[in-house]
Amino acid sequence: MNARLNRTPNGLPNRQPHRLATIRSRTAGALSAGALLASGFLAAGLSALWTAPARAQSPAVLNLYSARHYSTDEALYANFTKATGIRIQRVDADDAGILARLQTEGSSSPADVVLLVDAARLWRAQIDGLFLPVKSTVLESAIPPTLRAKTEADGTTAWFGFSTRARVVVYDKAKVKAEDVDTYEELAEPKNKGRLCTRSGSHPYNLSLFGSMVEHMGPEKTEAWLRGLVANMARAPKGGDTDQIKAVASGECGVALTNSYYLARLLRSNKPEDKAVVERIGIVFPNQSSWGTHVNIAGGAVARHSKNTAAAVKFLEYLASADAQRYFADGNNEWPVAKGVSFDNPALKAMSGGAFKTEVIPTSVVGMNQVKVQQMLDRVGFR
Ligand SMILES: [Fe+2]
Repeated sequence: MNARLNRTPNGLPNRQPHRLATIRSRTAGALSAGALLASGFLAAGLSALWTAPARAQSPAVLNLYSARHYSTDEALYANFTKATGIRIQRVDADDAGILARLQTEGSSSPADVVLLVDAARLWRAQIDGLFLPVKSTVLESAIPPTLRAKTEADGTTAWFGFSTRARVVVYDKAKVKAEDVDTYEELAEPKNKGRLCTRSGSHPYNLSLFGSMVEHMGPEKTEAWLRGLVANMARAPKGGDTDQIKAVASGECGVALTNSYYLARLLRSNKPEDKAVVERIGIVFPNQSSWGTHVNIAGGAVARHSKNTAAAVKFLEYLASADAQRYFADGNNEWPVAKGVSFDNPALKAMSGGAFKTEVIPTSVVGMNQVKVQQMLDRVGFR
């Protein structure tokens, strides 16, 4: 945590919301400096004052720190540049890498916009004061309150979700029955012994799922459940989600967890080897008859020390526009979050049957449970 920040009673930094106002007043200050110049006060210091706001407002380049690792996003950024003339300069890293970098850079960070692919990490970054909460009626009206940070008393919001992804189950149709794997709980039952494959337990996608399980079942049952998952593993955790899907198709694993967009990517592929994978696997959206499938958010925020706030907000508003939202669905196989956006992704429709029940829990809770979950993973030996 950054001890330099003032905190509100709920632990959130309370200096940030005034940043926009600060920028505006700095511009006003520069104008009065201009008046001084006109009246004969020609000093080097004043000319520096005069140029600083002009740089701050220049929209030519937007520095984007992104954990979105999807090559199809290039078109998304190119369209923004085409529409606004603002060029995007990107730094790519995973969520943890971006948060660490923002912490290290502090107030000298060039970041204007931060994109993360996990709800708990968005929450963590907010708590650590890495975001600049902003007020945007465009974002507030486009994005449902459940998919963005809580709006503060001063009307600002720290981050916004732009797309969702479900954590679903894939299974080997030849060996496993759908009804044996259609809840998260069953993956830990003895009937699935030797079948389960998964990426590392401490990957954000799993940490968020496990954090949501704590919310649904309580910590004791969740720890027992995690122990059951470890007991059922077909192999030690390794690889990414696509590797798990392929390992199910090859017969090495009977069942695995994956984010929905990896699956949709294979469903839409024309490669014969991908078609063969899809042929072999079944897909389940877990917990449809109880609390619903776990859904994570990819989202973004204005960076705390952005020198380009107006352009940063413009970029976030662009991500909430119908065109960009459709792009999340059709380009990267995620579900759009903006109200009333229609999309035409046959894979998303095919695998979910059009609509499915999602869990309803506060994102902040999933974030808060993560320390607890990591300790459980250590205790049960889930690497
Ligand atoms: Fe991913």
